[in-house]
Amino acid sequence: MLGRGMADIRVPAIKVLLLPKDTNVFGTIFGGVILSHIDLASAVEARKSGPNRYVTKAMREVEFHEPVYLGDIVNFFTETLRVGRTSVTVKVSVEVERWGRGQGERVKVTEAEVVLVNSKLLLRDLSENPERLSGSPRGS
Ligand SMILES: CC(C)(COP(=O)(O)OP(=O)(O)OC[C@H]1O[C@@H](n2cnc3c(N)ncnc32)[C@H](O)[C@@H]1OP(=O)(O)O)[C@@H](O)C(=O)NCCC(=O)NCCS
Repeated sequence: MLGRGMADIRVPAIKVLLLPKDTNVFGTIFGGVILSHIDLASAVEARKSGPNRYVTKAMREVEFHEPVYLGDIVNFFTETLRVGRTSVTVKVSVEVERWGRGQGERVKVTEAEVVLVNSKLLLRDLSENPERLSGSPRGS
């Protein structure tokens, strides 16, 4: 737990309140929903690096330290770690505000490193191999 402490002046790339549709069979938040938001938050951060669009190339080890509960407010804080020739590496830290007992504790849930690549590489690949868009190896 991170506690409450001084006012947090960091601004998250994304802040969400998750809904019952986002839960698993145990009633806690489904991990894939968190991964999806990590992906989106990293893309928001990557856009600061220049007027490019990005696709996700790699997501490094993600470990969920704590469950996320319905009603938690989930913050996705981001930081650019590296800007390469065609890629941007972004660190995403996921912290929840837990208001269940009305105290607003901050709990770090997980963190991840995401590598995003300039979408021009994907677009070039698709223009050279248009049959790949059809969903069939033969393009039929
Ligand atoms: C994006 C794509 C066209 C890139 O093709 P590629 O052949 O891997 O490209 P490159 O080898 O030239 O690498 C591009 C950059 O990614 C980096 N990179 C490649 N693989 C990496 C990995 N596993 N981890 C970290 N960085 C990696 C390279 O270092 C390079 O960075 P730099 O130019 O800043 O130095 C191709 O991988 C692709 O289409 N991937 C699917 C993307 C997608 O659809 N994502 C959504 C999820 S389905």
